[in-house]
Amino acid sequence: MSPSFQPVTDFRPVLDRIAAEVAATPGRGRPADYIPLLAEADPGRFGMAVAELDGTVYGVGDWQQPFSAQSITKVFTLALVLSMDGGALWEGVGREPSGNPFNSLVQLEYENGIPRNPFINAGALVVTDRLQALTGDASGTLRDFLRAESGNPDLDFDERVAASESAHGDRNAALAHFMASYGNITGPVPDLLDQYFRQCSVEASCADLALAAGFLARHGIRADGSTLLTRSQAKQINAVMLTCGTYDAAGDFAYRVGLPGKSGVGGGIIAVVPGRCTLCVWSPGLDRRGNSVAGVAALDLFTTLTGLSVF
Ligand code: DON
Repeated sequence: MSPSFQPVTDFRPVLDRIAAEVAATPGRGRPADYIPLLAEADPGRFGMAVAELDGTVYGVGDWQQPFSAQSITKVFTLALVLSMDGGALWEGVGREPSGNPFNSLVQLEYENGIPRNPFINAGALVVTDRLQALTGDASGTLRDFLRAESGNPDLDFDERVAASESAHGDRNAALAHFMASYGNITGPVPDLLDQYFRQCSVEASCADLALAAGFLARHGIRADGSTLLTRSQAKQINAVMLTCGTYDAAGDFAYRVGLPGKSGVGGGIIAVVPGRCTLCVWSPGLDRRGNSVAGVAALDLFTTLTGLSVF
């Protein structure tokens, strides 16, 4: 076996090398500008964290700097709904890659108001609607879960980002109303949009999100040892992350990185090595599909250097 495929025990040298290579790479993309507050982010920022199954965290660069988690939160709302209602969610949302941008409307009419998967915006709105029905406070439930798993009691929403997105939220409103016309949204659309925009505005660091995703590497087991999901459910979420977590770039992400991953337009990406560790990388410059340029490059390098991959 090649030495590069031995299990890594100390991630620090790997992270240092990744940070140095990413810093030397020009062309970091551009921050999202459809939410005006996100456009202010500095594309030169870069952070990365790796969390072991026992909660040990290694980090480099801006790994403790909170950033806007955005669509990364969709993994956690999905997990919470599956933990509470078993598989009922899948009657209202599919599990196929969409091949379309994350905020696309085009497939919804052909497919009778059933979104392709839970990670495009339409699917995430269905998930948040179900979490709201199950808990009465979808975003609060999400925040409590993230605080518990990350061990960070200060983790919170950025109400300014939520307001900024709400003020420019016509497309998400259109998606939600359109699905409601098919009966695939159960609660009032304005309440759902409030919950969804707050959810997306979660501010968390690479360390927070790598730790919070740990249950996906621990086959469904939470940080305190309790069970959130069955082993099968954890596997299912990882599979949907691999096939749908980076939208119409999921094929390229699987090819380059080879891990289940989920991106957000704040420039963060989480990734899972089942049974081994979780990762989170952040750099605000995005490619045209809404994924962090430096983030994908860093994860690509991580799996190349360590040999840790699902393949
Ligand atoms: O729904 C939106 O437009 C955003 N709040 C979240 C989108 C997002 O992060 C998509 N990810 N790449």
